[in-house]
Amino acid sequence: MENSVLTYFINRSPKYNASSAWVTDKMFIQKIYQLSEANENSTVLDVATGTGLIAKQFHGNVKKIVGVDICESMVQQAKDQLDTLIISKIENISLPDNSFDICVCRQGLQFAELDETLKQIYRILKPGGVTVLAHLTSYPEETEEDKKITFKIQALREPVRKNYLSYDTIQKMLQTAGFKDIEIHPYITKESINRWINHGAISEENKTAIIQCYHMAPSHYKEIHHIEIFDNDIFDDMHMTIVKAKKPQY
Ligand SMILES: C[S@@+](CC[C@H](N)C(=O)[O-])C[C@H]1O[C@@H](n2cnc3c(N)ncnc32)[C@H](O)[C@@H]1O
Repeated sequence: MENSVLTYFINRSPKYNASSAWVTDKMFIQKIYQLSEANENSTVLDVATGTGLIAKQFHGNVKKIVGVDICESMVQQAKDQLDTLIISKIENISLPDNSFDICVCRQGLQFAELDETLKQIYRILKPGGVTVLAHLTSYPEETEEDKKITFKIQALREPVRKNYLSYDTIQKMLQTAGFKDIEIHPYITKESINRWINHGAISEENKTAIIQCYHMAPSHYKEIHHIEIFDNDIFDDMHMTIVKAKKPQY
């Protein structure tokens, strides 16, 4: 399974930066930066740094930005945005305890062991340190049946996913891990499904199945997601959840 996450991102890496609207959305990236409370003295860890699009916002504005990721082909594009690059699974990272002011992660937790990753983030952060985690989730208004559609679409697009996140999953897990001052910030991103499914690592069969899911979704699902169909494309207002939390001061 580990190999398949890696293979999946090796295949996605050439087209990654063009694979969704959210990937390069400046407002989204700035929101994560602002919530992190970064300043020129901050030491920052970017978990699942990928091609460095989040790291780029921190680079030059903070004391140190470190990226961790498993995939060489993704991070090749991030090297100029990082002071230090670590090729490792976040679950096994060997950084010291209490060593970073800030830990951010956008769209990485769905591929990792969630409990272990949050434990590592907690361990690595200094007391009083801030984490900001931004991920695609279901809407709070979605019923259990709606979530099945959302998560089926995600599974068809990313068969190597380990986790399917409701809007409050990460918040609850952060509470369990000992974090305090937890805030949830929704962020809506309008995605063209033709663009979203052409990320370079998806079968034709799965593309067709995703399009079918949208056409067959009940009308209340289409209302929540503001589904629009025109120009031979489908548009979905997808729900991102940005969670901010602090490691308590002792
Ligand atoms: C969807 S990309 C997100 C990249 C970047 N954070 C962004 O917002 O554009 C997910 C990244 O997570 C990395 N990844 C997956 N599982 C990981 C793990 N267990 N530890 C570290 N990185 C992982 C992948 O290699 C990939 O680069």
